[in-house]
Parts: sequence; C-alpha cells; structure tokens
Amino acid sequence: MDPASRIQLHSGNQMPIMGLGTWQLTDDTQQAVSTAMDLGYRMIDTSGDYGTQAAIGEAIRASNLDRDEIYIVTKVEETDDAYAATRNNLNELGLDYANLILIHRPPKHGAGEELWRGLVRAREEGLSRDIGVSNYSIELIEELIEATGELPAVNQVEWSPFGHDLDLKQHADFSGIVIQAYSPLTRATRLDDAGLLEIAEKYDRTPAQVMIRWNLQRGTVPIPKANQRRHLEENIAVFDFALDEDDLDALDSLNEHFSSLGRLPYV
Ligand SMILES: NC(=O)c1ccc[n+]([C@@H]2O[C@H](COP(=O)([O-])OP(=O)(O)OC[C@H]3O[C@@H](n4cnc5c(N)ncnc54)[C@H](OP(=O)(O)O)[C@@H]3O)[C@@H](O)[C@H]2O)c1
Repeated sequence: MDPASRIQLHSGNQMPIMGLGTWQLTDDTQQAVSTAMDLGYRMIDTSGDYGTQAAIGEAIRASNLDRDEIYIVTKVEETDDAYAATRNNLNELGLDYANLILIHRPPKHGAGEELWRGLVRAREEGLSRDIGVSNYSIELIEELIEATGELPAVNQVEWSPFGHDLDLKQHADFSGIVIQAYSPLTRATRLDDAGLLEIAEKYDRTPAQVMIRWNLQRGTVPIPKANQRRHLEENIAVFDFALDEDDLDALDSLNEHFSSLGRLPYV
C-alpha cells in the first residue's frame, strides 16, 4: 500500500485508497488542495453545498497532474434534481466529468429512486464514472437496488474506531460496495481517548495516523479533512507502518456507535 494505491469498484473502475475531505476547509481551499496533491493525495471529496468546488477545480488545473491521476467525488442534495445538480457541480468544478457522484443523504421518504435515476442518466452521459450513496442504511440500499437494478459503487458514512458497524460492512463486502469513511478522525473529538493513545504510543504514531491506518487495513477508505499543513502531512504519512491484528481488534472494540454528526444510518 502507498498513497497511489487504488481499490477496485464493482464497475471495474478503481478509486484511491484515501482522500482529502474539504467540508469546512476554511483556509485558502486552492492552496490546501494544491498542497495535498503535492504531498500525494489523489482523491478530493467535495459537494455542491461545501463551497469548495471552484477552488478545487483551480487547484487541479494549476497542478502538473493529468486529469486521470486525480479522483473527484462530489454529491447532490436530497432535494435536488440529481441530473441538473450534477451539471451544476461540474460547471463549478470546471470539469467534464466527476469520478464519483453520491446522493448526499437519503430523502425524507423512500430511498431516493428519482435521485438515483438522475445519477444513472448522468453516468450514462459520461458526466460521472461511478455513482453511489452517502448516509444510507442496508435497508435503503436494498430498496434502491430493487427499484432500479443499480448497485451503488460506494456508501460514504461516518466511520471510525469509535463509530462503525459490522453488519453494514459485511453487507457492503458481500454486495461489492466500498465504504468511504467520513469524519474518520471523529472531527478531532476523540483524539485523546486513552485506548487510542496507548496504541498510538506503541507505534510512535499520532492518534490520527492510527485511525487512518485502521481504516486502510480494514478496507474502508478514509477521507480526513485538514486545513493545517502539518495535519495534511501527518495524515498521509501512514504507509510506513502497519497495525498488528491484536491492535486492529483493540481498535474495533472501541466501537460505541459514536457519531460527531448524529447521522449514523445504522443505529
Ligand atoms: N457525506 C457526508 O454526509 C459527510 C459528512 C461529513 C463529512 N464528510 C466528508 O468527510 C470529510 C472528513 O470529515 P470531517 O471534516 O467531518 O472530519 P475529520 O476529517 O474527522 O476531522 C477534521 C478535523 O480534524 C482535524 N485534524 C485533521 N488532521 C488532524 C491531525 N493529524 N491531528 C489532529 N487533528 C487533525 C482538522 O483540523 P484542521 O482543519 O485545523 O487541520 C479538523 O478539525 C469532510 O471534510 C467531508 O469531505 C461527508
């Protein structure tokens, strides 16, 4: 594993094994994304409602990377016309296509069949390579598949040692859906947990690095966000050590379905 490694999606396309989150990236977004790409980040997560798309597009155009070396994830809102919102997102990004477009959250009622059909159309027209969901439960994913026959490539959910769900992961593995881990650092609220600190000290790593590494070794795809350069550097410096099985198990056992956002789809 290294920062350029990719994970296979059921579509046949591949996705980087970690990325950069950009929600509440309050510093100069273009600068932060450029720094991240220089450091080796190859996937950027955004959304129509983050306000970061235009600057991400600028950073991509200012980089020396080819478009196919960079992986862009964006999202449409549950109240959107998904096809039209996809076009808006691409306009803001200044890109011809996104690699992955997600339904940001399930609508109030139902599984979002209309939204899903809009994303299928967007993909068929080449506006996105893959489509997926976010904050979806097993039941809602099943409902979507049954209604449309279309399997999401990804389910992006809040995911950390302190809040994750074995059933959702097993269902995802069985179905061929990749789990993307948002708020993988618990939005910095659990970095001082004693159990986590003990493991971090054992490897001479930081709590953030241990949580990112736990995701990578458990086959989920973390997208930590960082404004600060030292955090950007720290979070990608996780490819020169490995947690052993006992410590992965110990991290699993920290699970208390903790959510920093209160939006877990499985509780
Ligand atoms: N689909 C959804 O509904 C959804 C919901 C939430 C988030 N997301 C996505 O997931 C991304 C990540 O989640 P998040 O932003 O909620 O939270 P997060 O990545 O868990 O945490 C970000 C916070 O951790 C701090 N941090 C970063 N690296 C650190 C380190 N090495 N040591 C100590 N603190 C560190 C950051 O500080 P600085 O910024 O000061 O560096 C920031 O305050 C978002 O940006 C967004 O792209 C998606």
